[in-house]
Amino acid sequence: MILPINIYSDDILRLKAKPLKGVDSEIEELIASMFESMHNASGIGLAAPQVGRSVRLLVLDLSYITEYEHEKPMVVINPYIISVKGSCDIEEGCLSVPGVLGYIERPSVITLKYRDEHFEERTREFSGMLARALQHEIDHLDGTLFVDRMEKRDRKKIKKELDAIASGTVNTEYPVVAPKLAKVSKQA
Ligand code: CO
Repeated sequence: MILPINIYSDDILRLKAKPLKGVDSEIEELIASMFESMHNASGIGLAAPQVGRSVRLLVLDLSYITEYEHEKPMVVINPYIISVKGSCDIEEGCLSVPGVLGYIERPSVITLKYRDEHFEERTREFSGMLARALQHEIDHLDGTLFVDRMEKRDRKKIKKELDAIASGTVNTEYPVVAPKLAKVSKQA
């Protein structure tokens, strides 16, 4: 099922998401819907809070990028970054901040402990776009958006775009939850 994506400045994107205790049929369904919603929006990563669920779960699929075509779609649950190496400046975007791009400096290599779709514990080192996408999605689980990490002068340049998204003036090719509507429905 294609789920609408919560966008800036929805409160749910600012919460610290809760760890999962296991993978039951409801979570399996959520995972399938997250892959479907991400592919529908041509995204390479999606975190559960972006579809209105404040749990520590994210999905990733970089297989359409030539260099990563053999990389299977990934399910990452309760991730924990054990160590980082190096740093690099890469341009990022986000399905929850439509139309905005910005350069962010982050570690270039990460070692990650997480649980997979079977809730089995794994430890693996990631580099390149995988390391970058994982760090971006893990930020979502802690209520952080990539725009928070942009340099001040770059943030000034996108302020108008952010204000427009927050006020509901946004054009996407995928369904979104307008931030104000989201707040109303939470009160109901
Ligand atoms: Co994002």
